[in-house]
Amino acid sequence: MAEWSARARREGLSVGFVPTMGALHQGHLDLIARARQAHPRVVCSIFVNPLQFNNLEDLERYPRQLEQDRAMLQEAGCDALFAPQAETLFADLQPHTYDLGGLDGHWEGPSRPGHFQGVVKVVERLFHFVRPDEAFFGEKDRQQLTLLRHIARQEHWPERIIACPTMRAVDGLALSSRNARLSPGERDQATILFKALTVAARMAFKHPVEEVDRAVKDALQAEPTVTLDYFGIADHDTLEPLKDWGDRDLAVALIAAQVGPVRLIDNITLVR
Ligand code: PAF
Repeated sequence: MAEWSARARREGLSVGFVPTMGALHQGHLDLIARARQAHPRVVCSIFVNPLQFNNLEDLERYPRQLEQDRAMLQEAGCDALFAPQAETLFADLQPHTYDLGGLDGHWEGPSRPGHFQGVVKVVERLFHFVRPDEAFFGEKDRQQLTLLRHIARQEHWPERIIACPTMRAVDGLALSSRNARLSPGERDQATILFKALTVAARMAFKHPVEEVDRAVKDALQAEPTVTLDYFGIADHDTLEPLKDWGDRDLAVALIAAQVGPVRLIDNITLVR
């Protein structure tokens, strides 16, 4: 794969990269389209990374549909698919713990021990094999994005990390491969996450953080079968939880909840 990218660059063609775990949906296709707009060559990877799952059942049940994904990528005009075996990807992996700068101390970090170390390790490996100029990540995984940017700076990765807006269904549900595991009833219940985030977006900067927090938790009562893991408001850049708005003009509201068999996450940017 690295040779493919090197050849493209020798021909003066830059390479955009969309790393995925497959079970592709419109959100991934949007990332491919953004990569296409910026680069004459686009690679997508599909690899269900065992290092980032801290729940064996979630790993086993993660949807896998390589042939369907391949057809979708062709249709989307993606130039190359990198779908490595774990033995190849991790062949010369040295034991290494990344300094995540405390960015895993909140939100997904405590709920999923080891998750972000696993994400950083696999992204480093994928970059090593693909050698892209830029890589495109969705804002739905906001903490992942913040962390990867931090590591890219810290480790002097040459690849640029590009943030892309979350794609949503018409009822607001953030697109995710895990949505495929929801029953029609659970799929409806799951829209409460976005409804809760829009309550936060409406109230942000006009009401104290604590009041917004209470209003969001009240709104979530509308779906008692949805079990909240966390909701909170954070600094836009560091994702440190906020107690007050201070003089900032931007913040983020983050949410995670269990809906039927699936744990879903979402977030929204709050603007003054
Ligand atoms: O966001 C994802 O799909 C995954 O975390 C990633 C970046 C492909 C690493 O496995």
